Amino acid sequence: MNATSQSPGDHPDGLMDKLVSLAKRRGFIFQSSEIYGGVGSVYDYGPLGIELKNNIQSRWWREMVHGHANIVGLDAGILMNPEVWVASGHVGAFSDPLAECLSCHRRFRTDELTDLEAGRADDQQCSVCGATGKWSEPKQFNLMFKTFMGVVEGESSTVYLRPETAQGIFVNFRNVMDSSRLKVPFGIAQVGKAFRNEITPGNFVFRTREFEQMEMQFFIEPGTGGYWFQEWRAWRMEWVRSLGIRPDRLRFHDHGPDELAHYCAEAVDIQYRFPFGWQEFEGIHNRTDYDLSAHQEHSGKKLEYIDPAAGKRFIPHVIETSAGLSRLLLVVLADAYTEEEVDGAARTVLKLHPSLAPVRAAVFPLIKKLGMPEIAEKLAAELRRQHNVFFDVAGSIGRRYRRQDEAGTPFCVTVDGQTVEDETCTIRHRDTLEQVRVPLSGVGQWIAAAVAASPTST
Ligand code: GAP
Repeated sequence: MNATSQSPGDHPDGLMDKLVSLAKRRGFIFQSSEIYGGVGSVYDYGPLGIELKNNIQSRWWREMVHGHANIVGLDAGILMNPEVWVASGHVGAFSDPLAECLSCHRRFRTDELTDLEAGRADDQQCSVCGATGKWSEPKQFNLMFKTFMGVVEGESSTVYLRPETAQGIFVNFRNVMDSSRLKVPFGIAQVGKAFRNEITPGNFVFRTREFEQMEMQFFIEPGTGGYWFQEWRAWRMEWVRSLGIRPDRLRFHDHGPDELAHYCAEAVDIQYRFPFGWQEFEGIHNRTDYDLSAHQEHSGKKLEYIDPAAGKRFIPHVIETSAGLSRLLLVVLADAYTEEEVDGAARTVLKLHPSLAPVRAAVFPLIKKLGMPEIAEKLAAELRRQHNVFFDVAGSIGRRYRRQDEAGTPFCVTVDGQTVEDETCTIRHRDTLEQVRVPLSGVGQWIAAAVAASPTST
């Protein structure tokens, strides 16, 4: 086989549109409530999308929780006491300034209105209706979704959908530390939904109003923040690279003083070079004792740590690693999407790391007779004990390969005439297109070994 692909490091033209279309066609991602015309920037994950998301999440959990003796997991509620968000600063400060076009009444973030920001409101044109110079005074717009708890609506029953998972960790700091008998330094990790009423969502699942985060708060002794910040900065990049993401599309972006969030002493983003530019998908933040101190003061409950050896008391400082699961899924998809020519024919293939691929192996009988379907079905059933396996008899073998290439399936196992005679089958590798003959009884092990041996970019 003779395969040529796009030059490494370059995305194919029109990649975002191609991804949206492939994601729908193959069952990765659908627009939410599509039959009703959708709902503002919310997406549903289809059969392949949920497998991919689960695989990314499980690699993160294995790395962060199972891979560290001093990091434990948590699953806190999405709805919390509204005082949490007062203490964290989100009620007061989690907002963007918006100005309204007085002609068409559309609202814009002021940082998108360059003339208005520069004090030339009279020159500022509305990008929707074209009116010039007709702007309201900018107003702060809080990004948290509000809802009501209980049967009576009103300010007293207002609760918020959490805009980050981190606060669920801070308010459980004592519960987890006391019940798990952890000693500083230790971490608490959590994966879950977060909600932000984003003013300018977009770029598919890059910025949505409902999304998932994978966050870890690492509680440390005051004065050690600089050291742990550097450690986590390096470890997180190493992990991202272990997913097989191309290194030339990854970089750090250190926050300057004017970029730092209100709770941060130091921050760095891990960015990916999307087709729409370099953008963050994970942040590492030195949050000092900002959150625990704020919750201690606001709740009146002590959130100190008592060092058992030295006997000293302190409020731990925190290094946070905060990744967007849905945004990382977009990184993984964008990075894997490849267009290439094989023996003169175009093929689209998702070169996903085998540990992330939604379907690990597809099993095909070459033709629907001579006992091949029965053997193939039996093999698929056996492999399912170890791997996520797809069985397909429909269409020519070439079409079946193409469908699995688009799904990112790393291995296609074909039962053919020779199998009936000698109980061997072929395994085709998605990326190299090489085929090997393997005994039916050894296929499961062969695939497991190939996944374990898959190279990463570290
Ligand atoms: N606890 C800190 C925190 O939430 P953040 O930088 O606001 O920090 C962390 O968010 C990560 O969450 C981002 O790097 C991004 O991957 C993801 N994220 C934030 N807003 C998002 C949105 N509207 N849609 C998808 N992912 C989002």
